[in-house]
Amino acid sequence: MALSDEFLQELKSRNDIVEVISSYVNLQKAGRLYKGRCPFHHEKTPSFCVYPDTQSFYCFGCHVGGEIINFIKKAENLDYIDAVKFLAKRAGIDMPKDNFKNNDNTVRQRRIYEINRETAKFFYHSLMSVNGTSALTYLRKRGLTDKTIRHFGLGYAPNSFKLIDYLRSKGFGEEELIQSNVAYVSRNGHLVSRFFDRVMFPILDLRGNVIAFGGRIMGDGKPKYLNTADTPVFSKSRQLFALNFAKNIQGRELILAEGYMDVISLHQAGFENAVATLGTSLTEQQAGLIHRYADEVIICYDSDDAGRTATERAITILRKTGLKVRVLTIPHAKDPDEFMKSYGDKGPVMFKVILEQSAMDIDYRLDKLRNKYNIATTQGKIDYLTQASEIIATSDNPIERNLYISTLSEKFGIEKSSIEERIAGKLKKAKFQQADREINQRKALTLAENDTINPEKKDNLLGANAEEYIIASLMNNPDMCQYIGSNIKTTDFVTAFNKRVFTFVMSRLTDGKSAELLFFSQEFTEQEIAYITAYVSENSAKHFSKSSLNNCINILKKESEQKIRKKPSEMSDDDVGELFSKYSKSKR
Ligand code: GTP
Ligand code: MN
Repeated sequence: MALSDEFLQELKSRNDIVEVISSYVNLQKAGRLYKGRCPFHHEKTPSFCVYPDTQSFYCFGCHVGGEIINFIKKAENLDYIDAVKFLAKRAGIDMPKDNFKNNDNTVRQRRIYEINRETAKFFYHSLMSVNGTSALTYLRKRGLTDKTIRHFGLGYAPNSFKLIDYLRSKGFGEEELIQSNVAYVSRNGHLVSRFFDRVMFPILDLRGNVIAFGGRIMGDGKPKYLNTADTPVFSKSRQLFALNFAKNIQGRELILAEGYMDVISLHQAGFENAVATLGTSLTEQQAGLIHRYADEVIICYDSDDAGRTATERAITILRKTGLKVRVLTIPHAKDPDEFMKSYGDKGPVMFKVILEQSAMDIDYRLDKLRNKYNIATTQGKIDYLTQASEIIATSDNPIERNLYISTLSEKFGIEKSSIEERIAGKLKKAKFQQADREINQRKALTLAENDTINPEKKDNLLGANAEEYIIASLMNNPDMCQYIGSNIKTTDFVTAFNKRVFTFVMSRLTDGKSAELLFFSQEFTEQEIAYITAYVSENSAKHFSKSSLNNCINILKKESEQKIRKKPSEMSDDDVGELFSKYSKSKR
């Protein structure tokens, strides 16, 4: 029985790998991953890793690895389909009855994208029609230019049944309109639009599909904002508003704001690296998403109490991913949008000024901590310094830590060493984790010597490592597919094994399918999957950056040229074939 991609994906998302494996192995968190003693071979020191990011596992001792189904196959000694059944039962999901039903899911998603796109078009045209006059006036009054309105595809949901009629005339049925959450059945049985008399903000995914809407009431009514509920194409905890634009910016720095209007104002003022959550507080998934496109993030939340609490929370979540975090406090205004507006034409310049003054998260937190204790008293001092040490220990930069320690010791007239001691205890744990990681990386290198899966690796270490990084980048960031595809060709791959992996991943992605490890079973052996898991997961834990990717692309291109320039006597048949195909291409 061929299982659909959607079914497998649901199976995976309902069986979190850390949770499942925890009932077999005693796992300890170590940075971005979990470690424990391998259940598949005898060992004293843990070399079995579970990676929440890629939902995979790998043992550096016995080289077993893969995704959740691979784990259950081995742990429960089941074949593939029984392992799937086992997990389905565990998560309370029904096994699919027939293939026809599974295909339904992709069709359904495609229909919802179409409905959303038509709806966005309809809202935009309503805004530009006579019915939309008051909405358009509202948006202009809030300082948005026509260009901005068009850029974000803002719209107006009219006070009528016109949207439903329009979508019906396009051939969409009641059920799919409900599923896409643009409509619902009212108490008296009519199909009605979810959004009435609101200004509409379409939400796009990274591929440019409209996946949801936010709608703002123009007066004082409640709720102020109404958002699309989660649908088969939308999960509010996994998306960010305006990331479809922000991901294209040059630097690796993003601004995280609270509201749609803040983001739009910021973009209009030239800060196109601003994103926002979708009406909920920041999640770990969203932090991970930010980390894909940035090394540094500036939190720019509302200046009220709620905003401050949310800032503290966001700092912790963002730090955990390894991002550098800064905090911007907005003076004399509620939020970035109001700040910008209050300065009129000078808004962008003024914002640039406060952006540059934004504090490192540690300064920000120390500042806030100061207000919590009465440092005129001895107890207040002790409490403050104890807490402050914890905050400083969150920095992994010794110079930065030292600076803070010096400042504190001067301010309070106490020995530097006593603060250092306190911090050292906190740091010890982090150090151990770092050492662990380095050992693992070394292990991976020595592996190349007796590599049976990719035997060409030991003679092409540089090229093979670049290949692995490129494949890992592609699998961990599928939206990079087009970029990678247009910058590196299959024929540039120097090892046959990685070439095969790359071809497989590319062909799935270009078909619009997912290329997670979950889907490798039909094409690769268990050992091969374990091998791929190791490099995809390790590279994800180290985190992706576009400059490293470009580096690897350049290395690989050079390596493949060198390989082609080898003496003819050293060439394999494949090399000759490749050389020929390159040669004939460049002739054209
Ligand atoms: P304006 O008042 O239009 O400037 O919006 P704002 O973004 O400044 O509003 P606020 O700071 O109150 O809210 C920030 C974000 O929280 C909004 O952009 C919404 O995403 C979300 N939000 C605000 N109010 C509601 C609400 O009533 N319901 C829901 N679901 N989300 C809300
Ligand atoms: Mn606002």
